[in-house]
Amino acid sequence: MTKIITIDGPSGSGKGTVSRLLADKLGFHYLDSGALYRVLSIAATRRKVDTANRTELSLIAEHMDVMFKTSTQGNFEVLLEGENVTRDLRMETTGARASQLAAYPEVRDALMKRQRLFARGDGLVADGRDMGTVVFPAADLKIYLTASIDERAKRRYKELIEKGEDVSLRALEDQVRARDERDTKREVSPLVAAEDAIELDTSDMSVLEVLDTVLHIIDFKRLL
Ligand code: C5P
Repeated sequence: MTKIITIDGPSGSGKGTVSRLLADKLGFHYLDSGALYRVLSIAATRRKVDTANRTELSLIAEHMDVMFKTSTQGNFEVLLEGENVTRDLRMETTGARASQLAAYPEVRDALMKRQRLFARGDGLVADGRDMGTVVFPAADLKIYLTASIDERAKRRYKELIEKGEDVSLRALEDQVRARDERDTKREVSPLVAAEDAIELDTSDMSVLEVLDTVLHIIDFKRLL
């Protein structure tokens, strides 16, 4: 049986980095579900599809040709119709648009089917907003990461500056707040911790401390 670990939380909570490291450490597959919403946002922009056209958006979500791969330098890369779109993927504008499309149930349904296909082999670490509540409700372990808005905006700022994006911390704080608002208030699959999730506030923790804590929980629960 494939073991499933879900790591949910808001933007900047550290779930992406921790999930990738954890999957690596355990030799599990990794699903960055946010990347699917982001790549849909890129595909829709390129095809000039209106953000209100739910039918067309869900068709693209179902059929777009997406590939996740690890480059020879060990970087996580995303290909859309064969083209490397990793740079566009991480832009804050892509994330903001993704969270608009993510509010449509048709789009979520189409992407859920794709997300469930990642559960194969020994195990999967899946990160996102609704991995533990909707996509993998029977997961073996559910983690919910949080951090203060200040800290999350700072982390996003650092990440984007390192990628060469021209952003201001103030503007990012507003964007993180707006995305939180959209993600927690939407009707379908809002961002919320699963009842059986273990919550960790990572505001004062380093990535390695979070990883270590999750590994301890896995050990303690004799998950493997
Ligand atoms: O995690 P990331 O910032 O890459 O996600 C981008 C957007 O995609 C989120 O703000 C959210 O609206 C949406 N998303 C979602 N459900 C997921 C993952 C991401 O609604 N499981």
